[in-house]
Amino acid sequence: MEMVTLTIDGQKVQVPKGTTVLEAARKLGIKIPTLCFLKGINEIGACRMCVVEVKGARNLQASCVYPVSEGMEVLTNTPRVRESRKTTLELLLSDHNLECPTCVRNLNCELQKLSEELGIKSIRYQGEKHKPKYDDFSPSIVRDTSKCILCRRCVSACHKIQGVGVISPNHRGFNTMVAPVFDKSLSEVACVNCGQCILVCPVGALKEKDDTDRVWQALADPEKHVIVQIAPAVRVS
Ligand code: FES
Repeated sequence: MEMVTLTIDGQKVQVPKGTTVLEAARKLGIKIPTLCFLKGINEIGACRMCVVEVKGARNLQASCVYPVSEGMEVLTNTPRVRESRKTTLELLLSDHNLECPTCVRNLNCELQKLSEELGIKSIRYQGEKHKPKYDDFSPSIVRDTSKCILCRRCVSACHKIQGVGVISPNHRGFNTMVAPVFDKSLSEVACVNCGQCILVCPVGALKEKDDTDRVWQALADPEKHVIVQIAPAVRVS
């Protein structure tokens, strides 16, 4: 196996050719934040949280998709890198539903954890928000695009792991939305309700449907919805 030697934050490391900078850094115990990256499943360089400085390259590079090369010198924690990651995160938060205390992923959310780690105290950018879609017509999965960060981890899980492929990015630019084709509900496509998309979602954009959702759904439209499960009886004695 051909090996490559590079330097990351002043430390030399030897890794097989084809390894990414992120993997090489992890070998050295250097932590680089990631959001969209899921090893072997979603390696698309979408979120830019993992950017690093590579000597000789003019722009910052996404370490999760940038391959190592012989003699490469990488810096993972410079002011430029930190500022870029922080700005990226602030932009994501500027179009994010911030009702965190009532979110099912509160205190278990990768976006929330990163915001804490990067010391974000307020949202600098206040502007237009995309028109969100709340889809709770599936028997088991609730989709809330107001919390989606477009990392596409769910898309890869649905397509690559499960081979189902019912969700994809729809539309373009600011209007991009991960959804079933033609913005249909999950209940209208061939979703198998496996829940793998929920498992890989870093935030609360996808969640398991619970009894509360079913009750609200039935109250909203009793003609269409039947409560298929009720909460267990509360013991009073
Ligand atoms: Fe590298 Fe998202 S983690 S671009």
